[in-house]
Formats: sequence, structure tokens, C-alpha cells
Amino acid sequence: MSLNPENIVEIKGLVKRFDDRAVLDGIDLEIPAGKTTVIMGGSGCGKSTLLRHIIGLLKPTEGEIWIDGENVAGMKEKDMNRVRRKFGMLFQGSALFNSMTVGDNVALPLREHTDLPNEIIRIIVKVKLELVGLTGFESFMPYQISGGMKKRVALARAIALDPKMVFYDEPGAGLDPITASMIDQLIHDLSRKLKITSVVVTHEMKSAFRIADKVVILHKGKVLEVGTAHEIQNSKNPYVQQFIKGEPEGAIPFYQTSDAYLKGLLET
Ligand SMILES: Nc1ncnc2c1ncn2[C@@H]1O[C@H](COP(=O)(O)OP(=O)(O)OP(=O)(O)O)[C@@H](O)[C@H]1O
Ligand SMILES: [Mg+2]
Repeated sequence: MSLNPENIVEIKGLVKRFDDRAVLDGIDLEIPAGKTTVIMGGSGCGKSTLLRHIIGLLKPTEGEIWIDGENVAGMKEKDMNRVRRKFGMLFQGSALFNSMTVGDNVALPLREHTDLPNEIIRIIVKVKLELVGLTGFESFMPYQISGGMKKRVALARAIALDPKMVFYDEPGAGLDPITASMIDQLIHDLSRKLKITSVVVTHEMKSAFRIADKVVILHKGKVLEVGTAHEIQNSKNPYVQQFIKGEPEGAIPFYQTSDAYLKGLLET
């Protein structure tokens, strides 16, 4: 098959069945390099499951997942770890270590994955914190800062290793809509500044349309529609319209519960 060099990720015919139920039901998706792709869709449509396939936490039942020219679908863990070094990830609920300072949280991937001396790590941490608007917060403990600031720290940690691509699963979950939109905007600004590919799952419709170069609407494990924000907003598909207008019969919540998700993560 031929891969388009403009795409950093190409997914072909991705199917994931849990028992007999197809949670992802034939996904074809292209993620353009250096752009912000926003994935939206109702609760339970498979957004997190899709992300977890791309980062190699789940293996597909069928299909191919090409990342930077390599099919990771059947890849061994050792090779997958090498591929994973190219990404940063920001899971729900910032997942900071509460017993560590802000600075040590950001330094963690650098200490784990590089042999850089402490002095250099200290400088990188300072720069990353500056990028997310938290200059001088190194010695704060997570309990001393707000939820929105914790998200920023998690963001600084996600970009600590200068990844080519960063995945964000509902970066605004648990934050008020204004703070959530600010986080989305920060993600977008960072992507531009650092020229990284961003893949964002978000329910914040306004910011999604503002930051997205490409919008993907998932529905029941399938890609329902793909387009620019403008194209999606003008979609003729009634489900897409219902979804973006947030009409109640869509029953689409602002925030997801993390329990099932975290439980799933632990099971893999
Ligand atoms: N490990 C698993 N075993 C069985 N079913 C699973 C597993 N992981 C996910 N599912 C199911 O797959 C479906 C999609 O889940 P997923 O977490 O991807 O949804 P989502 O689109 O991220 O939803 P939300 O917006 O609520 O986060 C759900 O019905 C979920 O119960
Ligand atoms: Mg989810």
C-alpha cells in the first residue's frame, strides 16, 4: 500500500472487538503531520479506544495502523516502546504524582528516557514550564495549584521529550468550560510553536472548531464524517448537526467518567 508522506498516522480498516461486540467497526483515518486533528463523538463511540490503539496500548482485531511509516498493529512491545518515544500523551485527570514537585513531575520522562545531566534537565523543565505559562512553579506541590494549572503541568510533561506528536484525551475534563477552552487553545498554540502534530479528543465544541485543522466525528465505532471545522459545521448529516448543536436527545455529556476508562487501561 502507498502511504501519503503528509500523514503521520494512517489507519486502514481498524476493527476492535471486545468479546463479540465491535467497538471500532472499520475505521479509516488519516492524521496530517504538523496539524491539529480533533476527534469528537458521543460518549462510548470509541474515541479513547481509538487513541489507545494508536499509542499501542491495545492491539486491533483487524486492520493496519501506520505511524511514521511503520505498521504498529502487530508490533512487539520492544519496538512499540521505540515508536512511543515519538509521542507525548496527556490522559484524563492530569495524572501528576502528588508526592513530587511540579518540576520533578515534568522532569520524569527526561530522567526515565534520557541520560541528560541534572543541570540540563533543570533547564529543559524551566523552558517547558515557561511554554505553558507556569514560569517559576518548579517547587510547588500539585496540591498547591488549581486543576487548570495541573493540566498545564501535565502538558509540560507531555512535551518534555520534544515529541513529534501529542495525544490528548479530553484535556478539559473536570474543568469549567472557560478553563477547558483555554487549555485547548494552549494545546493549539504549542503545536504551532513547536510544529508538533496534535490529536485532541474534546467535547468543548467552540474551542474544537477554533483549533481544529481537521475534525473527525465518530459514531458507533465508525468515522461518520471528516472535514474542516467549516465543513463539519455545515454538514447535512442530521446526527452531526444534533451532535454539534448539543441537543439533549443526543445525550452527549460534557465530561466522561474516567472509571471505565482507567479500569480498561489497567486491564491491558
Ligand atoms: N477493555 C474493554 N473491554 C470491553 N469493553 C470495552 C473496553 N474498553 C472499552 N470498551 C467499550 O468500548 C466502548 C467505547 O469506549 P470508549 O472508552 O472508547 O468510548 P469514548 O468514545 O472514549 O467515550 P467517552 O466520551 O465517554 O470517553 C464502550 O462501550 C466501552 O464500554
Ligand atoms: Mg473516552
